[in-house]
Amino acid sequence: MKSQSLNVYKRLLTYSRPYTWRIVLALVGSLGVVAVDVATAQLMKPLVDKIVIAKDYLLVNLVPFIIIGMAIFKGFSRYVQEYAIKTTGQLIVQDVRNDLYSHSMGLSMKYYVRNSTGNMMSRILNDVGVMQRSAADVLVDAIRESFTLIGLTISAFYSDWRLACVAFLVLPLALGPASVIGRKIKEYTQRSQATLGDLTAVLQESFSGVKVIKAFGTEAYETVRFQAENLAFYRFIRKTLKYDAASAPVIEILASLGIAGIFWYGLHRVISGAITQGDLFAFAASVLMMYTPVKRLIKVNNQIQRSIGAAERVFEVLDEVPDISDRPDAKTLGRVRGRVEFDRVSFAYDDEPVLHEISLRAEPGEVVALVGPSGSGKSTLVGLITRFYDPQSGAIMIDGEDIRLATLDSLKTNIALVDQETFLFNDTIRNNIRYGRRDATDAEVEEAARLAYADEFINQLPEGFESNIGDRGVRLSGGQRQRICIARAILRDAPVLILDEATSALDTESEAMVQKALANLMRNRTTFVIAHRLSTVMHADKILVLQDGRIEDVGTHQELLGRSGLYRTLYDMQFQE
Ligand SMILES: Nc1ncnc2c1ncn2[C@@H]1O[C@H](COP(=O)(O)OP(=O)(O)OP(=O)(O)O)[C@@H](O)[C@H]1O
Ligand SMILES: [Mg+2]
Repeated sequence: MKSQSLNVYKRLLTYSRPYTWRIVLALVGSLGVVAVDVATAQLMKPLVDKIVIAKDYLLVNLVPFIIIGMAIFKGFSRYVQEYAIKTTGQLIVQDVRNDLYSHSMGLSMKYYVRNSTGNMMSRILNDVGVMQRSAADVLVDAIRESFTLIGLTISAFYSDWRLACVAFLVLPLALGPASVIGRKIKEYTQRSQATLGDLTAVLQESFSGVKVIKAFGTEAYETVRFQAENLAFYRFIRKTLKYDAASAPVIEILASLGIAGIFWYGLHRVISGAITQGDLFAFAASVLMMYTPVKRLIKVNNQIQRSIGAAERVFEVLDEVPDISDRPDAKTLGRVRGRVEFDRVSFAYDDEPVLHEISLRAEPGEVVALVGPSGSGKSTLVGLITRFYDPQSGAIMIDGEDIRLATLDSLKTNIALVDQETFLFNDTIRNNIRYGRRDATDAEVEEAARLAYADEFINQLPEGFESNIGDRGVRLSGGQRQRICIARAILRDAPVLILDEATSALDTESEAMVQKALANLMRNRTTFVIAHRLSTVMHADKILVLQDGRIEDVGTHQELLGRSGLYRTLYDMQFQE
């Protein structure tokens, strides 16, 4: 193994540490298996010499008992070994998956923009599954087979050391090709796991976008796309299988060379009287039985290579350093008053700058509206307040405190967000609203729903608040979903409120109602409102007009109308009649 692979493997093994006693138990079981194998080989000598040749009838009657007794002992040992080690394997899988999940939850939005959901899912489900066998399971296999080999080797030398020397010239021959095969398997495993990731990504995408597929009638196109990924996966798996399948035959052919030589030489020694028939049988049994562990060890090597391939993909995620995390000296913010300031904030998702030197200030309780054309950077700007991303330059302060110096937890409890994309969990309405504040009582949840004008339609549902809004909330209308998201934000009761197109899916009537609720909600909170409909932002204390990531103009509705800028143009377009 290369040193890098060795490190990966060592790291894998650290996951077995909590399960040491299970592994020890498995090893004890495997020693029982080894003992029976070695005893079988050595019992060939009395069997041949004393029974077959010397015809000892008393011993003949013992044979069935010995066979059955040994089988029971071996069976029991194997059971203990298998059960102990398989459960260890599963426990390790569970640990790795938990680690991987909690680590990925800590990664920033930047990571998720770069990596597809399907890819992440594949790593957590498939790669962990593949790497699992190597951690403890394979290790015990390796140890058992090594013990068997050592035992049988001693047994072979004990029977006839000359013959044994001949046999062991041949064994190493098998190891060269075996290691080449192992390396190939690792390489192709890694590539096939990557393709499996792509496959999962396609799946994930098409199931969540099924409505678009249906609307555009692109089922056939998607099927072809899936089949192509599926085929790509098969191609890599086939290569792995090719090497895997070649492994055993190669060993067997090389083994036959040894066996041929041994029998030729061994029979000569029996005929010349140097050893007894029993010695030859015991020896032959030892050597023949040895090829099984050798074959298994090579399989183990293949398995380890495969696991390392997958483990590298898993560790890649675990080693990803979250670029947004608490500083060691991060402060816990209490409930803030809600003064939000941007000081010459510039931001780019990649190289292309999206926000240029934005400076603004929102006093506690103020309503700041952001208007501007699509793509001008409104969502990006408010996203920076929640630290989805950190700006490349400049600083954002809440109550005069740079938000990068506060703990993420305490920052987020101070912010409630109703996003442009209304995401609801596959859970009850009650729990979806309660997501705003986990410890809210049922009464508080219902009150929040009432304030968001969501209670009416919720109560009309057969199960009311307990209704499950199925996968992605398909059973609710856009406006209903939005109101649940608003209720969630109301429940959060945070001093800073961000409404990104929060009422865009509502009709004029329900918007007017929700506006009233929001007006209540906005009292004593610093609110950022983004809306295309100017009627929603007219009453803001301050309106920022954004264009191409720059603040074009700031003022109240009346002030802005007085100037003939972008705001005037937008206004005229919306209120032409
Ligand atoms: N995750 C992302 N990665 C890279 N670029 C992005 C990302 N999100 C947005 N952008 C780009 O940043 C710019 C501003 O996007 P933003 O979502 O802030 O616009 P917006 O003003 O909210 O538009 P809209 O009114 O349509 O919601 C756009 O040019 C967009 O292409
Ligand atoms: Mg937006």
